[in-house]
Order: sequence, then structure tokens, then C-alpha cells
Amino acid sequence: MQTLSNPTQPYSIKDWQRGYESQRQEAAYWIENIEGTVPTDLNGTLFRNGPGLLDIHGQPIQHPFDGDGMVCAFTFDRGRVHFRNRHVRTEGFLKEQQMGQICYRGVFGTAKPGGWLANAFDFQIKNIANTNIIYWGDKLLALWEAGQPYRLDPTTLKTYGIDRLDGILGDKDTFAAHPRIDPHCEMDGGDPCLVNFALDVGLSTQIRIYEISPQGKLKRKQVQTIPGFAFIHDFAITPHYCIFFQNPISFNPLPFALGMRGAGECIRSNPKESTRVVVIPRDPNSGESVRVLEADAGFIFHHGNAFERDQDTIIMDSIAYPTLQQVDPNQDFREVNFEALDSGQLWRFTLNLQSQQVNQELLSVRCVEFPTLHPDRVGRNHRYLYLGAAHNQQGNAPLQSIFKIDLETRKQQLYSFAPKGFVGEPIFVPKPGSIEEDEGWLLVMVYDAAQHRSDLVILDAQKIEQGAIACLHLRYHIPYGLHGSWTPVCFPL
Ligand code: CO
Repeated sequence: MQTLSNPTQPYSIKDWQRGYESQRQEAAYWIENIEGTVPTDLNGTLFRNGPGLLDIHGQPIQHPFDGDGMVCAFTFDRGRVHFRNRHVRTEGFLKEQQMGQICYRGVFGTAKPGGWLANAFDFQIKNIANTNIIYWGDKLLALWEAGQPYRLDPTTLKTYGIDRLDGILGDKDTFAAHPRIDPHCEMDGGDPCLVNFALDVGLSTQIRIYEISPQGKLKRKQVQTIPGFAFIHDFAITPHYCIFFQNPISFNPLPFALGMRGAGECIRSNPKESTRVVVIPRDPNSGESVRVLEADAGFIFHHGNAFERDQDTIIMDSIAYPTLQQVDPNQDFREVNFEALDSGQLWRFTLNLQSQQVNQELLSVRCVEFPTLHPDRVGRNHRYLYLGAAHNQQGNAPLQSIFKIDLETRKQQLYSFAPKGFVGEPIFVPKPGSIEEDEGWLLVMVYDAAQHRSDLVILDAQKIEQGAIACLHLRYHIPYGLHGSWTPVCFPL
């Protein structure tokens, strides 16, 4: 084990930084370097997305959220696993690769060369298709919340181009990167239904909600307007509601317009104001009105799940930060001092629709992100959540472990890849014929700084503490990713 400069710190910042090097290679191969055994009854495809390039021909981007999307596909076929990665050929990616320089401003501060004069009043942003990837309605779609989906070929990952979902999206309609799949939609006779939203922000914010069948057909659409500027990355659903947290922030567009800051750098938390919890009935014909409840300030990127405990009560588990972490325009994101920043922590919010009261309870002090659960429990009372977590019980740090919490017993389980491993979002895949909610596997990508490569690790979700049942070594590293999804389909290779 390498000696660490600070013995209480289970990682070295240098190790963590290397996981953010650009990956220019693309490849497709059967993974042969495997420790352990891949379960033969784990069959289907894991897709994941995240920034693949952190620089454009040597010019660094300001923030990983501005990095061009690169998709990985892992095909599980009766104990064998095929890997493929490919950059999403967005319009902006192609132009910048051709020009050999940054041609667009990024939302999180990436600027074109030439200082603020070169950037002022340029509101054209690049759709980087880097946040999530889903297979729905027979289409593989790379998502980025401020733009339209990019469609890819599920076998080759070749980019087809912008996809407006057969006309569901208008010319300029965006589509968020956090769709939720209702496993048994009551309004559709128990069929699954994809629910997603889009925002139009300004002095007030328009929330559009789309509900789309497994065949890709629009089932329901509604538009609601809420007062004020909103920065909403994720939401949650129950069988009857969509729930949004409008955290108190303000947006000063001036430095953005003048080319001095990215739009995302002009957002500030307002800790003295409260969060508005917006509860929108999913059925536009229910006659029920939108309700707005008030909760404490803070900032949430990701919700784990929500469910209706009874007719008047919604429970929601989310990762909350005391404030929105500022993107410092003068600092390289790789030089971040983790200890100086607040941790995201798992909270349970109890929304009482009758009394309009919100009760909030801290479920765990550990620094966590990327909550996931059994796909059949989305919108229903869930017992388990799985998260990426820091190695230590307290304090902010990179995600190095996988954390499971049993919300019935409050028991916690953890497996850590520290000091050399850094994890991303765990994806839960149920075992065929499973009965227990945690009977399944967790698939997680781990950056191994010791080898400067990434692994796909399979954990038994019932026995997290035992560590990997299989560790699949890739030939090179994949920069830290954002989100992914599982589909039981094995596309012919
Ligand atoms: Co997200």
C-alpha cells in the first residue's frame, strides 16, 4: 500500500486526478482479464455515459460537466462480457475535433480562447450528450439536460444524430437527463412508462412533463409554470405525482452575457430562503391542483426515490448539500480541496400534502452520491438504496466505496476500494426469478489508479461487504462517469 501524505485521508489527490484524464481511444473487445466469475444468468447490456474528453487538443475544459460525452456498452452474454466505448459525435464534438480548438462556451465555465471579448454575447452552447444513456422505445438515447437527445446505434454506438422522439419534442424542446421509469403505470393498465421533464428557465420556470410508452409513444404531456428561476437536475415520481425540489438560488446573468463566466458559474445558493417542493399530479385530468410545500434551504442534485405512504403523505429520499457548491472560475477543478467542501448526505423528506408540512431526517452522515435502487421499486416503498460513498464515515471525499442502506432496519453495508479505487454510480440488476428486493447484482465502474485503468466490478447486492464476485479489467481508463442504465436486451454484436 502506498504511503499517503495524510494518514486519515484514504486517497491521494494525485491518484484521483488521473481519473480525469481524457480518453481518446475507442475499442470493442471481449474482456479477457477477469478476476472471479461473471454470473451466467446475468444477461443484457449496461450502458453508461460521462465526459470522455476533458480537454480539446490540449486546451483544458473548465469543469467535467462540460466534457464531451463518451458512451460505454458492456454486453453480458452467458458469462462472457463484451466491451465497447465510443465518443458521441455531436455537432459540437465534430466541429471542435476538426478545428482543433474550443469553439463553444461551456455551461460550467469553459471559454473559447481570446478572453471575455471572444465570449461575450455568445449564447450558443454545445450539446455534449454526456449525462445519461437510456434504451427506450427501441432507441438508444444519450441525454444532456440543456439539449435534445442524441440517438446512437445500440450495437456499434455510432451516432445517428439529434432525435426528437418522433415529434414528441418540438424544434427547441430540451429533455432532462433523469428520466424515471414507472414499472407499473396505473394510468396505462400496469404497463411501464417513462416519465421525464424539461425546464424552460427565466424569471419564471416552465416545467414540461412527458410520459412515454415502451413503444416510444406519448401517453401524457403537461406544462406547469412555477415562479422564479429554477435549477433542477433530477426529480422523483410516485404512481400519482411528480415531485421537484426548487432549491433557493439566484442567477445573475451579467457575467455570463459579458463572457466572463459560464452560466453555471452565475448561480448562487440563497441559504436564507426556503426550498419549494413542487408536487404535480401526473394525471393532467385528475382535477387535483399542483401543491407547493416549503422545506429548508440546501441543494439537491439527485433523488433516490419517492413513494406515497398514505393518501396525504409522500416520502422522498434524496442527497442534499447545505448549499450549491460553487464552481470557482479561477480554480482548476482537479485542484479541489475535498475537505473544505460540504458532503452530500442522504436525507428522508416526509411531505404532508394536507398540512403542507415537510419533515426532514438525516439517514446517514456519510458523504454519498448517485443513489440507485431496484427498478421495480421506483415510486414504491423501497427498502434498500445503493450509493457511491466516501471511504471514511465522516467528511467530504471522493467516492471510493459502495454503500447500501436498509431503510427498515437502518443497517448499513459498505465495501471500499480505497486507497487506489474510485467509484461511480452503482446500477442494480435483479436476479432472474428473484423475490427479495436486494436479490441482484450491483454493476459499478471503478477507476484503479494503481494501474491507471478502469474495472467493471460486479457485487452481490445482498453481500456487499464481501467485495467483488467478478472484477473485469479494461485495457484503459474511462474518465469518471455520470449515469447509466441496464437493459435486459443483448444486442447482436
Ligand atoms: Co445526475
